[in-house]
Amino acid sequence: MSRTLLLLAGTALVLLLLVFWLSLPTPVTEAARAVRAGGDLTVDTATTDAFAVAAPGLAPSQKQRFAIGRDAFNATFVPADDAARGGLGPRFNSASCESCHLRNGRSSHQLVLHVSLPGAGPHGGPRPIPGVGTQLQNQAVSGFEPEGRIDRSYRDSTVSLAGGERVTLRVPRMSVANAGRRFPHNAQISPRAALPVFGMGLLDAVSDTTLQAIARRQAADGDSISGRPNHVWNPATGRMETGRFGWKATQATLRQQTVDAFHVDMGITPPGHPVPDGADDAPEISRRIVDATTFYTRSLAVPARRHTNRERVRRGREVFERIGCATCHRPTMTSGPSPELSAAAHQTFSPFTDLLLHDMGPALADGRPAFEASGSEWRTPPLWGLGLRERVQGHSEYLHDGRARTLLEAILWHGGEARPTRERFRDLSEADRGALLRFLRSL
Ligand code: HEC
Ligand code: HEC
Repeated sequence: MSRTLLLLAGTALVLLLLVFWLSLPTPVTEAARAVRAGGDLTVDTATTDAFAVAAPGLAPSQKQRFAIGRDAFNATFVPADDAARGGLGPRFNSASCESCHLRNGRSSHQLVLHVSLPGAGPHGGPRPIPGVGTQLQNQAVSGFEPEGRIDRSYRDSTVSLAGGERVTLRVPRMSVANAGRRFPHNAQISPRAALPVFGMGLLDAVSDTTLQAIARRQAADGDSISGRPNHVWNPATGRMETGRFGWKATQATLRQQTVDAFHVDMGITPPGHPVPDGADDAPEISRRIVDATTFYTRSLAVPARRHTNRERVRRGREVFERIGCATCHRPTMTSGPSPELSAAAHQTFSPFTDLLLHDMGPALADGRPAFEASGSEWRTPPLWGLGLRERVQGHSEYLHDGRARTLLEAILWHGGEARPTRERFRDLSEADRGALLRFLRSL
């Protein structure tokens, strides 16, 4: 009798332990998810081509579109009347997407200058400078003059860290040269480096309600950090929509970002572009090429994270969360529906951004508002692929104007809402600081 009881009690205990064990979060799955930074759009590659790989599982017709888009993205366009790669200029910034988005990352020498007059322009966006527009085009085809060029210089400023280490930051001074009388003295200027273009299908599929929910949570939790979405004009729909792309989230959709790149960066008039009465602005590129180029960045895979099981990387991740980096650079995001690429729909992925605008303080401010973004607000940039950028691009430059030469410098420029986080970073022990930087290189 007592033996049966003992047996029963024993079995019950084993069952209880089993239930307890099953209810524990399974570290394996969690770790696997951390590696799969792009959800189903992840590829395991760390070569110089890591930002240029197609998402796994594309159908044959999608692979074909991807290839057409890749050719257009890498092609050098010419001024001639050519269906595939004509229509460049007369004024432009660069003759190919790839020259600014080097191997789909960012180039170090191609800065774009956004310009405007004080006050709001059409639909509450930046107010164009007559004869120039909202971007300074620093190149022109023969027979035309460029609108000017950017001059940059730097002066040094030093910051000290706990333990006495000193870091030199370079403070940029940017101005416009050779612009002639066209360029008014009160113009607002904002230099921009290009952004990496992989994983765009996931960012495009994050729903407005998700962004609003993140903003509400940030506002409610009582710390200094409280982001908000930008609302921008989408000429394709004729509506104000939630911004997602660009350093100030001034483009609502990936397609519009692509259309604008052809039009403004390369001087190629896209199809369906609203033209002022009587202007000679017939489309210079087909809808098929624009659509394929959009599909190309939409379906570029996200490289898997590396070394996530190393002790220092794990410790760095803890520090990243503890001092507040993760509030803006969110380790998890979810996408909604994605009609053009089903693989990007309903994914949990790790872009390390909230896609929201944050006030980053006076040192980073450009003083040039864009729709609802003030002169000191910036969209949190995604950090995925960060540890591969140097290998892919052949340089390491960070922040909207490339002023930071290292990850350490990029962090030390954080101000405004991120100021308390930056101060906690400065106070870290050398070991914790090192672990945080090691974690960033695992992205
Ligand atoms: C002259 C340089 C230049 C060229 C050429 C260029 N881009 Fe860009 N691209 C940029 C810059 C600068 C940004 C950031 C813009 C901003 O801050 O609003 C950007 C942003 C983007 C983004 C948004 C990334 C993000 O995370 O928000 C995409 C997508 C993109 N470009 C695609 C393209 C495509 C496609 C082409 C060719 C049709 C192209 N670009 C041509 C400089 C360039
Ligand atoms: C309040 C939100 C916020 C917090 C907190 C924050 N960041 Fe950022 N981070 C941004 C924004 C916005 C930018 C872009 C600023 C710019 O370019 O002017 C940025 C830029 C960066 C960049 C450069 C990315 C690139 O592509 O050039 C890195 C690296 C970075 N942050 C890491 C960190 C780390 C590490 C922490 C914690 C110590 C942190 N951030 C905390 C919002 C934040």
